[in-house]
Amino acid sequence: MILQRLRAETSRNHAAIESLMPVLDPNISLTTYNQLLNRLLGYYAPLENLLRTKIEVYWPDQEYLCIERAKVPLLERDLRAIGKGFALTERCTNLPKLNTPAQVLGCLYAIEGATLGGQIISKHLLANLGLGPETGAAFFHGYGTNIAFQWQTFRLFLIKNAEPMNQDDEIVVSANETFKTLSLWLFPESMDKSEVKFQFDTSSQFLARPTCLALEGTHIS
Ligand code: HEM
Repeated sequence: MILQRLRAETSRNHAAIESLMPVLDPNISLTTYNQLLNRLLGYYAPLENLLRTKIEVYWPDQEYLCIERAKVPLLERDLRAIGKGFALTERCTNLPKLNTPAQVLGCLYAIEGATLGGQIISKHLLANLGLGPETGAAFFHGYGTNIAFQWQTFRLFLIKNAEPMNQDDEIVVSANETFKTLSLWLFPESMDKSEVKFQFDTSSQFLARPTCLALEGTHIS
């Protein structure tokens, strides 16, 4: 089933990007956090524009995917709340290829799945920087208590559309492309370091999801 494959075959890239994100660091500074938000905006703004045009073509009745789930307004709200200014001078141009419905589904899986860490990350941002959803942590707060519903709705949409397509390989490759392009954009200097194990030549081999002790008991499904 596509969801199991996605989970298994992106798990190494998930662990790698998670290890680089500074949001769980108890010593994170507001400056570092602000830089991260600016960088995320530089990726999400062009990506969401592209996704919107593709979703309008492939699933014209699913505009909620673009409006209700948009992350850019949350990033902008956070940057305004923190008050250290926007620096959207650079926009990522190395985005995942979104030329087919299967590629769009794979990308959406990574982007929507990224909201699942929000509950843990929000707690850390509150404890370490004193930020809540109204004061600079709206992006990571994400869907808040609605997260299980939003994830389930998305999973049903993904399954429903992936099944008749029969292009699971392409969906998985695109999900990994999304991890890869985001990682390259956020952490270009870390990509070559030997301790960070990204897996970007995504042949379809199954990988067990590594246990992450810090996240035990956070399973949402
Ligand atoms: C510090 C950063 C992060 C943390 C703490 C985190 C944490 C989590 C947690 C707790 C889950 C739920 C796991 C479960 O239900 O078993 C999850 C799932 C997921 N995360 Fe992250 N995450 C982070 C960053 C990211 C990023 C940057 C991306 C992608 C761009 C991402 C993509 C996903 C995906 C796709 C899933 C769904 C896995 C599935 O199919 O069940 N995460 N993450």
